[in-house]
Amino acid sequence: MNRCVVGLQWGDEGKGKVVDMLAAESDIVVRYGGGANAGHTVIVGDNKFALHLLPSGSVRPGLACVITGGVVVDPETLTAEIERLRLQNINLEDRLLISENAHVVLDYHKVEDRLREKQLGKAKLGTTARGIGPCYCDKVSRTHAVRMSDFRDLESLRAMIERIVDYKNKLFDAVYGAEPVDAGAIFKKCAAYAGTFLPFTVDTTEFLHRSIAAGKSILFEGAQGTLLDLDHGTFPFVTSSNSSALGLAAGCGVPAGAVDFFLGVAKAYTTRVGAGPFPTEQDNEIGRYIREKGGEYGTTTGRPRRCGWFDAVAVKYSVTIGGIDAVALLHLDTLAGLDELNICKAYRYAGAGRSSQSTFFPANCARLAAVECVYETVDGWRQDISGASSFEQLPAEARRYVIRIEELVGKPVMYIGTGPERDQIICRSADRT
Ligand code: GDP
Ligand code: IMO
Ligand code: MG
Repeated sequence: MNRCVVGLQWGDEGKGKVVDMLAAESDIVVRYGGGANAGHTVIVGDNKFALHLLPSGSVRPGLACVITGGVVVDPETLTAEIERLRLQNINLEDRLLISENAHVVLDYHKVEDRLREKQLGKAKLGTTARGIGPCYCDKVSRTHAVRMSDFRDLESLRAMIERIVDYKNKLFDAVYGAEPVDAGAIFKKCAAYAGTFLPFTVDTTEFLHRSIAAGKSILFEGAQGTLLDLDHGTFPFVTSSNSSALGLAAGCGVPAGAVDFFLGVAKAYTTRVGAGPFPTEQDNEIGRYIREKGGEYGTTTGRPRRCGWFDAVAVKYSVTIGGIDAVALLHLDTLAGLDELNICKAYRYAGAGRSSQSTFFPANCARLAAVECVYETVDGWRQDISGASSFEQLPAEARRYVIRIEELVGKPVMYIGTGPERDQIICRSADRT
């Protein structure tokens, strides 16, 4: 059985925890898009893992861990991550595969990311400053890109880096008045990365198709969320890759039809980091309650996340465009203690003297920024649900909240998160699908 886990909101839905759970029944786990902008948390007892590039299934021993060509790889972060896991007694040496076609994030990408944001001032996107946009730009424009396979020929890589850095330094000086970066230092690091990563650098497309033919169980791990998708998210406040389920095929050379089950992950409310429209945002006591209770601070940047009510219009859109089969609804525990909860079930558009309602999410930012939310108010619950191990053990109000979300989103909620720990998740029986 091949499955894919993908975020249905603006990222940080809890994908790491869900992937870790499903990895227990998989042979291979695959990251197919994004880069070190991702921060996926897995908590196992006293150990907390924050994974940026390695698939979240890495913490389970024995699985093959694959990083495909759709990912932009920051070798510095990856080295640190492998080392951190090694110190926690998790070894990846004989089970990590990195695509030879994956593009490489180098220091000048991170510099460029920061310079662009600084120059934009108040109009900045609020990126993670991990060099993601500049690296994907170089990939698309082709002439100034470095891929993992380029580490195989160090002399040619040296010339390549000198040429690219020469261009970048002219750009940094002319456009931003910034200090140059040092080609020699960047090459030196690359030469060290070559030693570390070449043994793992392979044709991951071939590996995945061989594994499919051999009947292996593959778990694909999406990064970011559908609403941050470059083409189908809230552009320009998105990331630079196809972070919806639609990115899987292009990101790893496996057709979507080879995936048997798409599981979308959503929080029982909504969060967003960085700028951009957010119709259900609660920049008030409610938002602060959710942030503090849910620990809503970025895994990658530590930034406080913006918090708001569950937006069924947005999640239904993500389910629809991604061909999602079922939903994992995490952080239900965080909502305990609120007397009433709002669910956004439609958007109202004002204008032309009368208003109209729609349940289809407009990814166009200007239109999204102008919507008013139509809320349905339901009763909250006071009980702590973090110990609940079945749907029936949840308070009636919590069960009604989940069922109403199922109705509005149009897909079954198969998993319910009741806390950050590995076992704090309720699995409703699969025959409901
Ligand atoms: P990801 O990027 O989608 O993997 O999500 P992050 O790891 O960035 O953020 C999710 C946060 O919520 C992490 O701190 C998780 O440990 C935590 N978490 C996951 N599921 C639950 C849940 O059901 N309840 C609570 N309270 N925390 C959860
Ligand atoms: P995971 O995988 C939440 C957001 C940034 C910013 C925008 C562009 O942990 O869910 P970028 O650095 O990609 O150019 O930033 O996208 N963003 C995320 N938000 N979770 C993520 O990943 C994100 N990755 C990028 O905050 O708004
Ligand atoms: Mg995250």
